[in-house]
Amino acid sequence: MTSSIAKGKAPANNNAYELPWVEKYRPQVLDDIVGNEETIERLKVIAKDGNCPHIVISGMPGIGKTTSIHCLAHQLLGDAYKEGVLELNASDERGIDVVRNKIKSFAQKKVTLPHGRHKIIILDEADSMTAGAQQALRRTMEVYSNTTRFCLACNMANKIIEPIQSRCAILRYAKLRDTEILKRLLEICEFEKVKYNDDGLTALIFTSEGDMRQAINNLQSTWSGFGFISSENVFKVCDQPHPVVIQSILQACQKSDIDTAMDKIQELWDQGYSAIDIVVTIFRVVKASDKMPEYTKLEFIKEIGWTHMRVLEGVGTFVQLGGLMARLCKVGMKPELFQIQ
Ligand SMILES: Nc1ncnc2c1ncn2[C@@H]1O[C@H](COP(=O)(O)OP(=O)(O)OP(=O)(O)O)[C@@H](O)[C@H]1O
Ligand SMILES: [Mg+2]
Repeated sequence: MTSSIAKGKAPANNNAYELPWVEKYRPQVLDDIVGNEETIERLKVIAKDGNCPHIVISGMPGIGKTTSIHCLAHQLLGDAYKEGVLELNASDERGIDVVRNKIKSFAQKKVTLPHGRHKIIILDEADSMTAGAQQALRRTMEVYSNTTRFCLACNMANKIIEPIQSRCAILRYAKLRDTEILKRLLEICEFEKVKYNDDGLTALIFTSEGDMRQAINNLQSTWSGFGFISSENVFKVCDQPHPVVIQSILQACQKSDIDTAMDKIQELWDQGYSAIDIVVTIFRVVKASDKMPEYTKLEFIKEIGWTHMRVLEGVGTFVQLGGLMARLCKVGMKPELFQIQ
């Protein structure tokens, strides 16, 4: 299937080149959204049949929740989108009063829609609505359900009160897989004539952690800053320690070579990386490593986890990182060598 990018639909207006790429390449139809196939299939069926239930879409940032809801609403309502949709997001006032007045009066409003379609109220970032405002929605959702349907998007489904959850179909979006992000990045690279090498794309995927928005933003920043997508450039733009350096630190730790490990970590520290950046990258490199023996990996992850917790509690000092290095080096040591006779 050719996407809207390939068909040249995405840069629809003349100012398109001024838009950030995340907006320029925001999918316009459900078919263009990558990943979460099963859930998107369900939405496509709803878009075709027209009987949209109340839905809640939850998941991490930048994986297509807002986009899916907009595509669904456009496909359901077509030209009637403008009259038939009320969108409120976290930037709008959404207290109890708004639910009582604005949402209720929109639900009561009469508009002409295509046959069998309903008005749609989109509540984006619904987890930031107060519990009181959500309570006020309960009855409104039921009373006007013959004419109006609610679509909610949120990062944390548990911040949506139970009674609303029970009125909605809950769709959970997973983080996007590497291949899915790669597919979209390649399409954009081709369309924007971006020069890249494979390491560069791998670095973009590594730094984005399943967040498509981050991947596309980093692609654009690297391209406009350096004019070439290589792993060095990507890590400079993302301001994260290079995994190759982290890899060499881990190799030193595996050999219990504390001096080398400390020298290298000192180097990173002097370059200005924060403790949290370093610890998180160490974790991700260990997790992705397929060369490390299973036992070592388990012990390393355990120690990194403890350090992560302490750094988050506020102790992000160099000594903390030194302590981590020491404990990682100890994993490979034989305790019997250190027993005092
Ligand atoms: N699954 C996807 N397929 C294609 N593009 C995507 C996808 N997910 C995100 N994007 C890109 O990322 C941008 C942001 O997506 P979107 O606004 O839907 O994120 P979100 O899930 O609502 O995130 P948040 O929780 O931060 O609101 C889109 O403009 C689009 O360019
Ligand atoms: Mg969103």
